[in-house]
Amino acid sequence: MEAKLTAIGIYAPEKVVDNHYFEQFIETSDEWIRSRTGIITRRFAAEKEFTSDLAEQAVRNMAAEYQLRLDDVDFILVATVTHDQIMPSMACQLQYRLGMPNAAALDISAACGGFGYGLVLAKGLINSGMYRKILVIGAETLTKVTDFTDRTSCILFGDGAGVVLIEAAEKGNIGACVAGADGSGGQDLYLSNQNTLINGEEILANNKIVQNGRKVFKWAVSQMSLQFNILLEKEGLSVEDIDWFVPHSANMRIIEAICKQVGLPVEKALESVSTYGNTSSASIPLALYEGVRAGKVRKGHKVMMLGFGGGLTYAGAIVEWA
Ligand code: UT7
Repeated sequence: MEAKLTAIGIYAPEKVVDNHYFEQFIETSDEWIRSRTGIITRRFAAEKEFTSDLAEQAVRNMAAEYQLRLDDVDFILVATVTHDQIMPSMACQLQYRLGMPNAAALDISAACGGFGYGLVLAKGLINSGMYRKILVIGAETLTKVTDFTDRTSCILFGDGAGVVLIEAAEKGNIGACVAGADGSGGQDLYLSNQNTLINGEEILANNKIVQNGRKVFKWAVSQMSLQFNILLEKEGLSVEDIDWFVPHSANMRIIEAICKQVGLPVEKALESVSTYGNTSSASIPLALYEGVRAGKVRKGHKVMMLGFGGGLTYAGAIVEWA
């Protein structure tokens, strides 16, 4: 059997926060944020709203929209860096809350590369013949681990969740995959509450996201461009064959730079960063869902999803929209 992506759903918290909000407590401006990141708004989860709640609602929205039953799901993968708690996993909580008694449940820790990793794992699990119906979820409440005193990062992050259903089928639609890591950049983007070292370097143990924005920016553009071309080659496609490119939505300037590097018109990139901010593992399904809802992504289109993030990690796949 082959792996087929058959449904998608999203959920984002109600509270919309614009750039002016930040002008009240840090030295910044709407103009700087828009021009340096492309972000116009983001969503903030309520105080008592957590990652598991966003993920649950995304799955419920997908199930309602596609008239799906969930009780025969046999694997749940949840990509997140903002678990409600480390143990139990988000996947276990969802397995119970959404009534999936026969599902194996596992969280993926690959930061903004996590959703891409989920696609790759789901394809492998289905191709192995061991599983038939898998949920791949990317869900985050990044604003709960945002350092609101750091003007270089606090303006970036938002909360949201997305899910895709991947099923066993005679003819699948998930083609070439890539997944990899560069652990040497671990200290450039981290979230820790322990006084440890990363690659020998001391870190800030404040349980907040800490990043070296410029280094991650440069790495992302070169690594994503490289992986874009590797995916094309694996699938036997040229850049003109890609209908939609859905990279992790961290910064519009990163997306524009990758498109320029690989020779793809930027209009063919789907993004979620302008309205949702950087939502880490949720950013790709949010962008893809909006593209589907807007009637842009249609049956037969070749869609390349490619994530990158803390670790450093990257992963993605080419999907022919069904
Ligand atoms: O999803 C996880 C992966 N993370 C990423 O992909 C993040 C990648 N990095 C980025 O998106 C960008 O590096 C940032 C948006 C974080 C920063 O943009 P930048 O163009 O790289 O800015 P910069 O760090 O080079 O700073 C430029 C200037 C600096 O001032 P000086 O030193 O030139 O006087 C900063 O102090 O902009 C200043 N600055 C700000 N000004 C107004 C930094 N943050 C702000 C701010 N408002 N919020």
